[in-house]
Amino acid sequence: MAEKVVINEVGIRDGLQIQPKFVDTQGKLELCRALIDAGVTWFEAMSFVSPKAVPQMANAAEVYKGLPDQDRINYSALVLNEKGYDRAIEAGAKVVAMALATTDKMNEANIRMPLRTATDVFTKIIGRAKDDGIGTRAYISTALGCPFEGDVPVETVVDLTAKMLDAGADRISIADTIGSANPAQTQRLFATLAEKWGAGIFGAHLHDTRALALTNAWAALGEGIREFDTSIGGLGGCPFAPGAAGNLATEDLVFMLNEAGYETGIDVAGLRRAVAVAERLVGMPLGGRITKWWVSQERRTAQAAAQAAE
Ligand code: COA
Ligand code: ZN
Repeated sequence: MAEKVVINEVGIRDGLQIQPKFVDTQGKLELCRALIDAGVTWFEAMSFVSPKAVPQMANAAEVYKGLPDQDRINYSALVLNEKGYDRAIEAGAKVVAMALATTDKMNEANIRMPLRTATDVFTKIIGRAKDDGIGTRAYISTALGCPFEGDVPVETVVDLTAKMLDAGADRISIADTIGSANPAQTQRLFATLAEKWGAGIFGAHLHDTRALALTNAWAALGEGIREFDTSIGGLGGCPFAPGAAGNLATEDLVFMLNEAGYETGIDVAGLRRAVAVAERLVGMPLGGRITKWWVSQERRTAQAAAQAAE
């Protein structure tokens, strides 16, 4: 039987957060529905952060309350402080995600707290979530490189992972926030983590800044990782991490996994339609590396149809 891989779609959070064109609630929900139609069942849907810091997330509560099919689809909300946690719970979140960066400078740029304070705040939020019966996913962001402090030792990632697990986090997601990782480094980090805790609790969140996200995903897959964050059309990037480009495109990873015999439950043709919705909403062309191939296939099909009609 084919092995299952979870694709956690982050397009309406990580994907849209850097987009200057505001996408209204209906637009965000339309994109969710297009992705669900393609077979997506896991989403990181919005972040409950300050709308002054990230204007695109101003409608987080409204979007969250309107998310389709909430009994069947697995949604999580990103929260970066207790106020965000309160707002997410109020909007009905059943799972919250947090992002703990590996360095003082990155945490300060992102959430205006040094690493130690951020660790304490997320420990407290995880404790509250446990009391409230809310699931938790802790991101160790900038785990494979920091835009301010450069290389990040594996021991730092291990230490922060241990702290988040000790606090009670259900899952840990390792993020290459700026897309600086290479496959050998990715393989080494996941091998270390999997050896210590087993691969099953980990996910990978990869950015495609230097065209290595897909190979990094393959490296993580080889270490047993079966949960990946991706963004439709390759949308994405952190406004507070200089140099960060788009996320690994959902269509690229799903295509690779489906071709390689893994079970994603997602249909690539449906993702093509979702890319079109996302393009209309943000007003610019999108698409992962598979796009050129899609376009050439469509051209060939159209030519064949035209010839048949002659
Ligand atoms: N949701 C909405 N508003 C919030 C908020 C939240 N989670 N947290 C703080 N605020 C508001 C406060 O109410 C206050 O509003 P006011 O100016 O109208 O009084 C203002 O933001 C400042 O509050 P403060 O607690 O001093 O926060 P800060 O200035 O230290 O900023 C963050 C910290 C976390 C709120 C802010 O940096 C942020 O939201 N960053 C987002 C980072 C992000 O999304 N990164 C990408 C994903 S990893
Ligand atoms: Zn990201």
